[in-house]
Amino acid sequence: MLPFLHQARTAGVRRAVLLSSSAIPEGGPAVGTVHQALPDLWEEWAVLRPSWFMQNFTGTHAHARSIRDEGIIRTATASGRVGFVDAEDIAAVAVRALTDEQAPNTDLVLTGPETLGYDDVAAIITEVTGRPVVHHRLTYEQMRDHLTTQVPAEFAAMLAGMDRAIAEGAEDRITDTVQRLTGRPPCTLRALLEREMRCSSS
Ligand SMILES: NC(=O)c1ccc[n+]([C@@H]2O[C@H](COP(=O)([O-])OP(=O)(O)OC[C@H]3O[C@@H](n4cnc5c(N)ncnc54)[C@H](OP(=O)(O)O)[C@@H]3O)[C@@H](O)[C@H]2O)c1
Repeated sequence: MLPFLHQARTAGVRRAVLLSSSAIPEGGPAVGTVHQALPDLWEEWAVLRPSWFMQNFTGTHAHARSIRDEGIIRTATASGRVGFVDAEDIAAVAVRALTDEQAPNTDLVLTGPETLGYDDVAAIITEVTGRPVVHHRLTYEQMRDHLTTQVPAEFAAMLAGMDRAIAEGAEDRITDTVQRLTGRPPCTLRALLEREMRCSSS
């Protein structure tokens, strides 16, 4: 990504907005390196650091298939809570960060309006869809071994480690970023699921 960003800078692009993650700090792995480089490279910049996407439970995303096929969400998050955020709210913040006269020039942690445990998520999906969904609490090792059947072992260990961080409270927070930048409150999981149900039935 960095050579591409250097070329864009040289070509006259004035502002860069990076999609990173709440779980990846400046200087952290993967895009954490790009985050660290942005302020030196650009006068106008922002790094969006969303919490976990509500869309992980819909479409073809991570948990959606096991919800649909088995009525099960498997995690190693125990009772840890997450400020799940709607991808549409992330996109709305990205529009502001890219087009407002004044660039944010900082990183922005994005969450939804409330924190939920995966037990709560299963209960809300059950209520909205009418199909029973339960949260199976796995240990870190069980989660890692389960994911190893789907993705390379190193990636599986990293994902299971992110669940363990949630169990330890790493994502148990909400921020006012969506409201502050877009002027409207972030979407709840229940409202997003009701929106998806309306779309799929029309
Ligand atoms: N999911 C979460 O809860 C979450 C939370 C925080 C941050 N994030 C971050 O948000 C980003 C998206 O996450 P996601 O869960 O939506 O991932 P995803 O389901 O794997 O989707 C990634 C998307 O990027 C596209 N893509 C991948 N490589 C590309 C390339 N070289 N050129 C053009 N398009 C490419 C893929 O296209 P194809 O479909 O054609 O492969 C896919 O549409 C990631 O950087 C992730 O770290 C995710």
